[in-house]
Amino acid sequence: MKYLKSIIIALVLVGFTYAILPAEEGTTGKDIYLDKKCNLCHGIKSLDIQGKDKFPDLSDVGNVEEFNKEFLTKFLLKENDHNGKKHAIKIKATDEELSTLVDWLLTLKESK
Ligand code: HEC
Repeated sequence: MKYLKSIIIALVLVGFTYAILPAEEGTTGKDIYLDKKCNLCHGIKSLDIQGKDKFPDLSDVGNVEEFNKEFLTKFLLKENDHNGKKHAIKIKATDEELSTLVDWLLTLKESK
């Protein structure tokens, strides 16, 4: 058992390294989309994400003329209107999460 102490020290060090890495690392817009439960309402058929039929599918949201990063971010925060309406809910997310999410949404283009 003479290596046991070194092994424990090594494991503790590995644990610390993971603990201090930012949690956001490697988180994609899709992860955030699913994490924020957008799919409880919106499906994205092009990615096989199931939603509910009565809500708009977001497969082609990157082609909606009005949507750019600033507009869509504000829309999701209920700070502006789209088609004369505000979004159904105000999204609770950090600025970083919102930014990653919106960048990803804008890449969704079914028709090029
Ligand atoms: C409780 C249901 C619900 C949830 C959850 C929800 N939305 Fe929506 N969303 C709606 C409704 C309803 C509309 C349509 C608003 C309207 O025009 O009447 C909409 C519209 C949109 C639109 C505009 C679609 C278009 O083509 O006009 C986008 C983009 C959008 N939502 C993104 C999201 C994102 C991203 C999330 C998760 C962070 C989310 N929504 C969560 C209900 C929801």
